[in-house]
Amino acid sequence: PIKGELLYEGKAKRVYRTGDPDQYLVEFKDDATAFDGLKKGTIARKGEINARLSALFFQMLAGRGIPTHFIEQTGPRELLVRAVEIIPVEVVVRNIAAGSLAKRLGLEEGTTLKRPVLEFYYKSDELHDPMINNYHIAALELATDTQIKEMESYAWKVNELLAEFLQPADLVLVDFKLEFGLHHGQVLLADEISPDTCRFWDSTSGAKLDKDRFRRDLGGVEDAYEEVLSRVERLLQ
Ligand code: C5P
Repeated sequence: PIKGELLYEGKAKRVYRTGDPDQYLVEFKDDATAFDGLKKGTIARKGEINARLSALFFQMLAGRGIPTHFIEQTGPRELLVRAVEIIPVEVVVRNIAAGSLAKRLGLEEGTTLKRPVLEFYYKSDELHDPMINNYHIAALELATDTQIKEMESYAWKVNELLAEFLQPADLVLVDFKLEFGLHHGQVLLADEISPDTCRFWDSTSGAKLDKDRFRRDLGGVEDAYEEVLSRVERLLQ
């Protein structure tokens, strides 16, 4: 596919037009940001690792009935995807208290939740991604009621499928963030699924194998990303 006009450049990815109006190219960068862009850095090989992991996760999920934007991997850090308009709502699912949930509700990080939790955030840099609920989404017309239900139902399914998939790799799926897009009116799972957007803990040691190593200056960031990729690739051999 030809790399056409740059449509969008975000913190971690660039999206390009292709010769086909129904398809975009997504290029994954090594740049990393945290805390609303306040912390900046680069993580060596992150672009390649996140492109590969996203491709493998999307493939696995598509095979189990989740409609995704993924078509194929076209380069070491490049995915060909269905063209979508991103719904400006982030969907977070949590199995174990960590990060902002632990802080907001005063839970000790690592506390297993009695039931998984699903949250919505409004994707808005100016507003710093405030948490919202179904009513806010409807009031702001960010998505229709049907689209909200579809996003919720796909997010719960992704939680089950991804947690089960990662278990034999000794990875615990603590929480993750999904984004969805519209392609000819159809809701598709979009964006990426990677250690940038999920919390993965080693099931034996509890070691953090995700972007928290960067956020919290824990060191070993590159090694953690490599470790997740090599464990997932081993699963698929
Ligand atoms: O920071 P918080 O605890 O709310 O993050 C929950 C999950 O969502 C984490 O896995 C984090 O990596 C992901 N997330 C994300 N992008 C954001 C906010 C959170 O990928 N803008």
